[in-house]
Amino acid sequence: MPEADDSQKEKQYHPDVPQKNVPFPLKGSGSYDWGMKNRLARTFEPETGRTVMLAVDHGYFQGPTTGLERIDLSIVPLVPHCDALFCTRGILRSLVPPQTQKPIVLRASGGPSILKELSDEEISMDMEDALRLNACGVGIQVFVGGEFETRSVHNMTKLVNLGMRHGMPVMAVTAVGKDMKRDAQYFRLACRMCAELGATYVKTYYVDEDFETVTSSCPVPIVMAGGKKMPEFAALRMAYDAIQGGAAGVDMGRNIFQSDAPSAMIQAVRAIVHTNETPERALELYRALRARLGRKKAR
Ligand code: 5RP
Repeated sequence: MPEADDSQKEKQYHPDVPQKNVPFPLKGSGSYDWGMKNRLARTFEPETGRTVMLAVDHGYFQGPTTGLERIDLSIVPLVPHCDALFCTRGILRSLVPPQTQKPIVLRASGGPSILKELSDEEISMDMEDALRLNACGVGIQVFVGGEFETRSVHNMTKLVNLGMRHGMPVMAVTAVGKDMKRDAQYFRLACRMCAELGATYVKTYYVDEDFETVTSSCPVPIVMAGGKKMPEFAALRMAYDAIQGGAAGVDMGRNIFQSDAPSAMIQAVRAIVHTNETPERALELYRALRARLGRKKAR
């Protein structure tokens, strides 16, 4: 037999060193296969187990939302500051440079516009296309209590089945109708349903009372949805309270890209998520960065 390995170096078998089984620390995710775990580890920073996702998918049902009229100009420069970008495949293909190293989570549901019943959604993308686009996850709306509740839950379970086949995490987004009560009781129900039916992680809204019961009764990670634009300090406080209440990160849109200084705002949110800064300290950071950016522009 010819010897392919003709190195003269001594073999290093280390028979006395037991091989370690490195545990996968993300909540509820230890039983997945390698591809799924790798995609999750790219989305949730392995050191903190947390993520700052930048949500810019709004156009899929409400057109050119304020702040997203020109994603090439307003959002692409923010991408280096996020851990993952949540967008539609249309925006990804047309505007996001493929050189980006950031993980992409793709919006995979849609159908009705703001002019119609929003819960009347379908799955809007093949898993093959998500793979072709090298996505690290797909996101889908689930309308618990909505008019098309069963359909939207089934949309999610279908996507989960496809995701399991291909190692693609599915983020379930607990959508709330205009007239629905947003309280911990509702979000406990919605988040737990999504997790039980297979969502890899869940995006949900923060509630002032008992948010920690929403996170603790959900066996998979929760990322906090941002919601309508509010003053910067209020948004930072909400992000802080959500993280301290057990959220594994945020998926924020309008409170970042509609801020007076989006780049400063996303960096302040990062400080809250990844280094547990208080909202007061994060606001100071926001103001300092905003001033610095203002000076740069003036030059
Ligand atoms: C609606 C969505 C969005 O389209 C979007 O991601 C919301 O982001 P934000 O509320 O922070 O602007 O998921 O449920």
